[in-house]
Amino acid sequence: MESNLQTRVLHNKLTPELPHHLDISRQELAFDWTEVDIQQIFRMLVARMTAKSFTGHPACRNEEWLKLSIIFSIDLFATSFTLRMFPPWMHPIVAPINPARWRLKRNIDKAKTILEPLMEQHKEVVRRRAAGEEVEEEDSLLNWMMDNGTAQETEVLDLVTRQCFLTIASIHTTSMALANLIFDLTANPQYFQPLREEIEEVETTMGKLGTVDAIGCKEYLPKLEKLDSAFVESQRFSPPILLSANRVALQPITLKDGTHIPMGTRLACANVDILNDTLENPVAYDALRWYRKRHETGQLNKYCAGQTEKHNLHFGYGNQACPGRHFAVGEIKLVMMRLLSEFEFKFPDGKGRPKNFYADEKIFPDPRAKLMMRKRRIPCDKCGRTD
Ligand code: HEM
Repeated sequence: MESNLQTRVLHNKLTPELPHHLDISRQELAFDWTEVDIQQIFRMLVARMTAKSFTGHPACRNEEWLKLSIIFSIDLFATSFTLRMFPPWMHPIVAPINPARWRLKRNIDKAKTILEPLMEQHKEVVRRRAAGEEVEEEDSLLNWMMDNGTAQETEVLDLVTRQCFLTIASIHTTSMALANLIFDLTANPQYFQPLREEIEEVETTMGKLGTVDAIGCKEYLPKLEKLDSAFVESQRFSPPILLSANRVALQPITLKDGTHIPMGTRLACANVDILNDTLENPVAYDALRWYRKRHETGQLNKYCAGQTEKHNLHFGYGNQACPGRHFAVGEIKLVMMRLLSEFEFKFPDGKGRPKNFYADEKIFPDPRAKLMMRKRRIPCDKCGRTD
């Protein structure tokens, strides 16, 4: 560059009009509407929160582990979809040439390089504690599995594969539930206000979560009854699977009504219809439906998120019902509390609630769907301004 236009503009335009330009710049600090891929944001958030409990720090910040914990399910489902297209006798021929299955194997090897050092660290802690030393250690599910598994279960490859399995069960199910809930609320924005008021009321009576020593998630989250209800309602429209519970008869059974189920029969329940058939106006998204039902019937412990009962099978049923459901509901409430308190949402111009897609019995939100969000504008008590 042979002239100094870029310097002249600073001297002759920016500096003389400094307050005006700072006012312009300040507008950007207000975080105006931004289009986001909320599903990707939720996947990363849930992967991190889950990894913090499952494997502890630093794995919960390890980009490779987080990516792996998201991609593992996608490859597993891709493998199973491909295999389903062939009769079982062809699986030994088709499976070895399936690229998604190669990626699964490569990711298990990668998971081993991330988790094995953590396992070694824990073994060292156990050795030092056995020698009478006091050693501090972060609590994690991985450590618990090592302390409580059999010799075979705690063999490195075995345990690493189980951790990968847990990512399949936990990450996409929870992040899709969050995405569906925020999509449903954005499509029905009249519910933002009561949900925010509920959070504010709980914060007023109990203090902000994390700021009062004696008050943790156990005391706090059950108080968010309306948010709980909004999630149950959202899950009614968009559970992750259309056939739940899903079982194979390992032996022949004759039911009380005489129905005979031969050994090997696959059985599944039409969970969406079973719940909808019990409701008035099941086509409407009514976020407070379950909250009202609890209070109207006086059954305050019924119709809660994560509670399985014979009409709500979205988390499965019986002793094989989802064992991670209360963790999932807790994570969903934590994320939603933060989002509802701090952000506003709307759909991009001309767009509405994204459609759900179906692949066999699986349901997922349109992966291309975008959402607009911005930092929440709370009017100033004194001047009423929101910026
Ligand atoms: C909104 C989120 C979730 C949904 C909708 C969901 C749903 C389900 C369903 C329908 C089943 C089958 C239950 C049955 O057959 O009766 C299941 C099983 C399972 N879930 Fe979840 N789940 C979620 C989150 C989680 C999380 C966060 C974890 C781990 C912390 C988890 C761990 C598992 C495991 C290990 C199984 C297999 C249980 C077995 O085979 O006995 N899930 N889940």
